[in-house]
Amino acid sequence: MESNRENFASNLTAILALAGSAIGLGNIWRFPYMVGEYGGAAFIIVYLAFSLLISLPIMLSESIIGRRSRSNTFGALRKLSKGRTWSSLSLLTVLSPLIILSFYSVVGGWSIEYLFKAFGGAFVNADPDNVRAQFAAFTSHPFLPLVFHTGFLLLCAIIVILGVKSGIEKFNKVTMPLLFCLIVSMAIYSLSLPGARAGVDYLLKPDFSLLTPKALASALGQSFFSLSLGVGTVLTYSSYISPKENILVSGVGTTVFDLLFALIAGFAVMPAVFAAGIEPGAGPALIFETVPFIFCKMGSAAPWISSVVAILFFAAICFAALSSAISMFEVGVAYLVEEKGLSRRKSVVCIFLGVWALGALCAYFPRLFSLCDTLTSNYLMMFGALLFVVFAGWVMKKEDVLSEFSSDGRYPLNRKLSGVFYFLLKWVAPIAVTLIFITNFLS
Ligand code: PHE
Repeated sequence: MESNRENFASNLTAILALAGSAIGLGNIWRFPYMVGEYGGAAFIIVYLAFSLLISLPIMLSESIIGRRSRSNTFGALRKLSKGRTWSSLSLLTVLSPLIILSFYSVVGGWSIEYLFKAFGGAFVNADPDNVRAQFAAFTSHPFLPLVFHTGFLLLCAIIVILGVKSGIEKFNKVTMPLLFCLIVSMAIYSLSLPGARAGVDYLLKPDFSLLTPKALASALGQSFFSLSLGVGTVLTYSSYISPKENILVSGVGTTVFDLLFALIAGFAVMPAVFAAGIEPGAGPALIFETVPFIFCKMGSAAPWISSVVAILFFAAICFAALSSAISMFEVGVAYLVEEKGLSRRKSVVCIFLGVWALGALCAYFPRLFSLCDTLTSNYLMMFGALLFVVFAGWVMKKEDVLSEFSSDGRYPLNRKLSGVFYFLLKWVAPIAVTLIFITNFLS
């Protein structure tokens, strides 16, 4: 089985795939809003500190477990521990990305529909009420959300069926640079609009009084969601990184790209929202109800600009959503192929059917949609992150962890750096995640 496993061609393509998983709807619809809500620059500082001190060690733990075992999530914990307790617990982390994928695919479907709308010039000169009505009409339509959810999931299935190299790696290699260019051009455009200043202030003005325990819990939750931690995607993708590559570089590279993208997305969205005189909000409403107002406003000057910008924006959302969705899909497929002996094709069909059914329900029952969202982001991801970091810090031998961290001595590490890393992994990250877990339970 192991000899059949594919590897990413290089560390750069591994970073692009990991960044593809990390950069997604979370960066565009949640991060900019959270920054504004929870204290601007003050929140950004906390977010940066959490990402480097807590999320990065967790990401590296997942990478170490994945690459050492060269297995799917369940197989990894089975191979690296005695008994079945750890691998049985890891089954939850096989399930949670599939739950996320079900509602994520519904939103992915909306973004495809909006891309079509943008091509059809639907936002040119439409008034704000009309844009809101378009969203309400679409989401309550008897079958359109289902059609687009099916289309989005089919696209994921096709990419995943093609395999790690010809599907996942190729897709990310093309779309990630493109996505970066799209979002940077959107940010430049957005910052050039009259009245953009208020959006920059919203993002950057520091207000330390807004850093409540809830804000801290949200910062860590968002950092996990954004970096795709605790659901086995990093573990599974890392199991495809060659033993010759430096996983410290891929972990740090992915974290930096994700942070950078979130900040640029903030500058692409918020200045334009303020320039159009709209109240900022979070969640799907920001992308599908609020942002399209901006395109309407622009349309009065030059309709074609409005259409082009709308097309670029929704194309960026589609790519970002797809590259994240395929990483969640792959977790389930790797499990079925390696643990249940199914072919890749059959595994893709099984995952498709399960996720499609739950997603179809989420598309029509908003309460189920938000239940799946809260269950995964507040509890299952935290549980998974704790599981992986405790496994690396307390179950695996320290020599094995550090040897994998240095790629078996190929990239010798400074003793101080490995000491700091091991301390963060063994003590700081598990304690911090437990505290946030408790805060989430209590609030
Ligand atoms: N990181 C993705 C985003 O920011 C979401 C995601 C979560 C992807 C979990 C994979 C696994 O949108």
